[in-house]
Amino acid sequence: MDFKEEYNQRVELFEGELHNFLPIESGEAKTLYEAMNYSVLNGGKRLRPIMLMETCRIFGKGMIKAIPFAVAMELIHSYSLVHDDLPAMDNDELRRGKPTTHKAYGEAIGILAGDGLLNLAYEVMADAVITLPVADTLNGVKAMSIISHAAGSYGMIGGQCADVESEKNNVPVTENRLIYTYHNKTGALISASLSAGAALAGANDNFVQEFRRAGVALGDAFQIRDDILDIKGSEEELGKPIGSDAKNEKVTYVSMYGIDAAKKAVEEKTNKALTIIKEMPIETEFLVKLFESLIARES
Ligand code: IPE
Ligand code: IPE
Ligand code: MG
Ligand code: MG
Ligand code: MG
Repeated sequence: MDFKEEYNQRVELFEGELHNFLPIESGEAKTLYEAMNYSVLNGGKRLRPIMLMETCRIFGKGMIKAIPFAVAMELIHSYSLVHDDLPAMDNDELRRGKPTTHKAYGEAIGILAGDGLLNLAYEVMADAVITLPVADTLNGVKAMSIISHAAGSYGMIGGQCADVESEKNNVPVTENRLIYTYHNKTGALISASLSAGAALAGANDNFVQEFRRAGVALGDAFQIRDDILDIKGSEEELGKPIGSDAKNEKVTYVSMYGIDAAKKAVEEKTNKALTIIKEMPIETEFLVKLFESLIARES
């Protein structure tokens, strides 16, 4: 089976399960549940859940066990996108090829849908830990701890703070601050996906740390590619607006160093991530192909 086919098969497996964790659209807060589901069931590459399921599989626990944590990761990622698109943040109107949640449901419901998704993620993980065999409980809690740290103010939210403050150079963007932004707004959830899957499967801390390191490098590459696509991409393929960063006068790797340097950095940082995983004494074939496929992605 070629890589693309295998990837799509895993997305299908994941999405088939995802439905079971989402709210039923009824009752007094029906609009909220609709907006939550709208924000999650709208395509998306499902990159983070696929990574989490894969590292759990590599360490012998299979992909199914990882599903609730993979779902939680996608709920958190989707909420981060809903809030990222809000008028007070990037103020964008298209996401995954459809109107952003606040465009479709209004700003208040948009904010609440994000809140709902975030909280649901923790409920899903806690419920999963409760039902794990006792011998695996600690591993489940470790995975939860990795994900919570990465999603929170020491991770993605911290990165989003630095990102919005960079607009119009309101807070001057030094090289260090740019690195902080990328490691956190994007690297945190990607590295947590890789390392939480390993932790859940009971891999030793060394592996968990190495996956974390690989994820940070890959996260940098992923965000720099995102910044390139924000200029050079096609709105149709990307499913989100081109020129969002320029509109917001956002300082990005591309605005600081130029397109050519950015393209080179995507390759270098991906290669760094690849070197880290290739040096691990485990089967990384699928991940290697996955990392490589992201270098020249168009969506
Ligand atoms: C978009 O993430 C936000 C960034 C971190 C650049 P993805 O490119 O993974 O978005 P979806 O999930 O496929 O829509
Ligand atoms: C967002 O970065 C990263 C998040 C934590 C959501 P961007 O603002 O560049 O992501 P897009 O381009 O809107 O997907
Ligand atoms: Mg943003
Ligand atoms: Mg944005
Ligand atoms: Mg972007």
